[in-house]
Amino acid sequence: MRILSIETSCDETAVSIIEAEGGITSPVYKILGNALYSQIDVHSEYGGVFPMLAKREHAKNLVPLLLKATELSGSTTNIPEITVEKKELVQTILSKEEGLFDALFSYIETHEVPDVDCIAVTEGPGLEPALWVGVSFAKALSILLDKPLVPVNHMEGHIVSVLMSDGVESTKGITPQVSFPALALLISGGHTELVLSEDWHKYKIIGQTVDDAVGEAFDKVARLLNLPYPGGPKISKLAKESRELELKKQYPELDWQLPRPMLKSGDFNFSFSGLKTAVLYAVQNRLKEKEVLSDIEQKMLAEEFENAVTEVLIEKTKKALEETQSESLIVGGGVIANTYIRNALHTLITTIFPHTKLLIPTIDLTTDNSVMIGIAGYLRYVSQDPRILKPSEVSTLTAKGNLSL
Ligand code: KG4
Ligand code: ZN
Repeated sequence: MRILSIETSCDETAVSIIEAEGGITSPVYKILGNALYSQIDVHSEYGGVFPMLAKREHAKNLVPLLLKATELSGSTTNIPEITVEKKELVQTILSKEEGLFDALFSYIETHEVPDVDCIAVTEGPGLEPALWVGVSFAKALSILLDKPLVPVNHMEGHIVSVLMSDGVESTKGITPQVSFPALALLISGGHTELVLSEDWHKYKIIGQTVDDAVGEAFDKVARLLNLPYPGGPKISKLAKESRELELKKQYPELDWQLPRPMLKSGDFNFSFSGLKTAVLYAVQNRLKEKEVLSDIEQKMLAEEFENAVTEVLIEKTKKALEETQSESLIVGGGVIANTYIRNALHTLITTIFPHTKLLIPTIDLTTDNSVMIGIAGYLRYVSQDPRILKPSEVSTLTAKGNLSL
């Protein structure tokens, strides 16, 4: 079957069409069309994501992305008849999304529509104004194409992103098997969670951050160093340079000492806000004697920060793997684009848990995307999830900023 999927939970607008078969036990996926627009440049100068700006950008970009994904998929069909009632209903649904109704209708009046069997959309968690655009758009499409709508939890999307083993260029459809129980470490801009899964769709959060998410900490530390949003990739680049130049060894007198928050707390929870504050105080302390940090000091700070974060993530994951006896470790979310953390997880598994299968998404599926929403949508569809909506029922669907797994 073919699934049209939509993601607008934060600052990526994405639309995909994927093909899936094999059911829940041995799903096989192929990407037919994938279109993504990252709003990073729009938000970067403000140092973070502005929900209302994200909302406007999503509304502007969804139809062009739908057009692109459909063209790439190479498979279109005629739209069912649009009655006056249908058109009015769609107009009401899209009334709060600036320009989206007009853009959608000028598209469907001049083009065939994608030939799909269902529509999947991120219903939460995320920035609620941003989520609403995707949810409203998906409801409109469900009515216009007369296809069922599958609401998807964004965090489940990050979990199943590991099932597309060749990444977004993939048209092969090779899907790794996941053995349960599986432990999922979800690390993104909004979440840091350890989730125990006994089977698909059975999740228990066994640990989470008590304050900032790990990606948020990267972004905040980057801002302290006057680096633009998103900070993760920039901090990670500086840290890499520091390691390559062995700056800690060369300049021990310039080294930073940051805490490893909650390393020995005895549970699976995290805390990153104190780490960010420790960076702030350490920088302020050094700036008592000088105007700005040197390049060397910045790089060494990035390395120490990345070390601190990685140590905590690895220690908690290790403890959780020991206690849950998990057969798989799934890692998802934007922060797992970080090479140092990826390598540390590989080392953890190969040295201490050689019988545990490590599943990490390809880099292109780490940050937000709609392919993972399509994958999750398929698994929900084939398990006949009671939350699947018929086109006549979609009005009940809402965006849920704080949705939990
Ligand atoms: O999953 P994602 O795209 O959005 C959320 O659902 O939050 O994650 C975005 C987060 C940002 O905080 C960004 O700084 C972080 O992922 N990130 C990284 C790296 N690449 C992206 N953090 C550390 N190292 C990276 N290389
Ligand atoms: Zn995400």
